[in-house]
This record gives sequence, C-alpha cells and structure tokens, in this order.
Amino acid sequence: MEIKDKVVVITGAAQGLGKNFAMDLAKRKARLALADINVELLEEVRKACEQAGTETRAYELNVAEEKAVEDFFNQVVQDFGTVDGLINNAGITRDGLIARSKDGEIRKMSLANWQAVIDVNLTGSFLCGREFFVKLLEQKKPGVCINISSLSRSGNMGQSNYTATKAGVAEMTVTWAKEMARHGIRVAAIAPGYINTEMTSAIREDVKQKIIDQIPLKRMGEPNEISHSVFYILENDYFTGRVIECDGGFRI
Ligand SMILES: NC(=O)c1ccc[n+]([C@@H]2O[C@H](COP(=O)([O-])OP(=O)(O)OC[C@H]3O[C@@H](n4cnc5c(N)ncnc54)[C@H](O)[C@@H]3O)[C@@H](O)[C@H]2O)c1
Repeated sequence: MEIKDKVVVITGAAQGLGKNFAMDLAKRKARLALADINVELLEEVRKACEQAGTETRAYELNVAEEKAVEDFFNQVVQDFGTVDGLINNAGITRDGLIARSKDGEIRKMSLANWQAVIDVNLTGSFLCGREFFVKLLEQKKPGVCINISSLSRSGNMGQSNYTATKAGVAEMTVTWAKEMARHGIRVAAIAPGYINTEMTSAIREDVKQKIIDQIPLKRMGEPNEISHSVFYILENDYFTGRVIECDGGFRI
C-alpha cells in the first residue's frame, strides 16, 4: 500500500509511540485520524502534523468503550470519506506481581488492575480492529491493520495482565490475517522491546540500567525505529499474519 494520501487511524496518538507514528506518517503525507483519551496533548500532535502539511483530525476516544469506538469509525469515514489503515496502539500498564509475601504480609494483583489492562489493550484492540474491518467491508476496499504487541508477550515478571494482553494481540493478528485476507485486507503486528517513551520513563533508573545491560545493542529503542516497522508493514503487500520483533535483540 502506498502511504501518501491514505487515511490512517492511530489510537493512543497523544504521546509516545502513537505521537511519533503520527509525525512520521505526516511527513509521508498520509491523512491522519488521531484518537486518544488525552485531548489536550492530542491537539498539539494534530497541529504539528498539520504543520507538516497533511490533513489531520483529532478525536476524543476511549478504545475500551464499544459504542464510542463504533461512533468514532463512523465519524472518521464521514470526515475523510474513507479509511485505509489502523494502528491499534493505545495501551496501558498496571504492573505488579500476581501474589507476593513481604514481611509476613501477602499482597496480590487487584482484579481492577487486571481488568483495566485487559479492557484497554485487548478489548480496545478488538473493538477498533473490528470496526475498522466493518468499514473496509462496507466500502469493499483493501486496507492494513497494525497491532502493537510487545516483547513482554513472552512472559515478564510483574506483568501478568500486560503479558496476557500482548500475547492475545499477537495471536489475534494471525487469526484476523487469515479471516480478512480474502477481502484484500492485511493484518500484522509489531512487538517492540524497551522504547524511550513516557511509558518507560516510569521505570526506575537502576532497573532501567539492568535492562539495558541485557539488551545486545546496549540501549533502548527510539520511537522512530518502530515507525520504520510501521512503514514496512504498510508498504509490503506480501506481509500479513506475522509479528515484527524490534527489540535490539533482547529476549526476556
Ligand atoms: N514504550 C515501550 O517500551 C513499549 C514496548 C512495547 C510495547 N509498547 C506498546 O506500545 C503502545 C504505545 O506505548 P507508549 O510507550 O507510547 O505508551 P504511552 O503511555 O507513552 O502512550 C500511550 C497513549 O495511549 C493513550 N491511552 C491510554 N488509554 C487509552 C484509552 N483507553 N483509549 C485511548 N487512548 C488511550 C494514552 O493517553 C497515551 O497517549 C502501547 O500499546 C504499549 O503497550 C510500548
């Protein structure tokens, strides 16, 4: 798929990877529908993308709410006339061990922290993917869906909830690719390693250094290095049903 002039939806576009995908796709002259719960930050991204010379609209959206996601995709098609790409990027963490014992006290991951991550990362990706496909089927046209998984999908201490969602997203990618191929729709995923964004800035410096020591390339990744994988998936018409691992060679 040629990127120029295509309408690409990016969820979680107010900061971090989503913001960088937007800025990098704006440079390639994609038309952008940006969605996030943080509308103030999102508006700044929208303005920056427009300054780069491309049509960009910003939408307030909680990807975990079914009706909101349905309305959002209807609105995007109304505003742009069509839709060609989706980057299912919105995501959160609520880390903690499943159960632990410290000084005689037993602590456990709360159901609320489990459910919050499932709702945004897994259900949110499902809802946005589903509504994106519905729009493509209605318009009888091809398109590309990119899901954002993670290195943590293989199992990471303190991330029962996050790991479950990112493994789910990776395997949903394979299922969707099989189901949608007959309609000319491709679906792929990216599993980033540790990337410098607001999400990872919350990691304690000493813990971060221990992680970096284990990464073969001895550094965290930069968001534009993940944008590079986005470009590859969008542009390579023979790529579907697979996960690109972009993690500096790190294995958890
Ligand atoms: N940064 C990393 O190292 C890394 C590694 C692997 C995977 N990822 C994944 O990449 C994606 C982006 O991560 P990031 O580092 O940019 O995170 P981030 O926290 O910097 O940004 C996430 C964005 O998603 C938005 N968001 C959160 N909940 C939302 C909701 N319910 N509806 C709509 N928007 C919502 C936030 O407002 C924010 O703008 C996530 O799916 C994350 O799991 C990140």
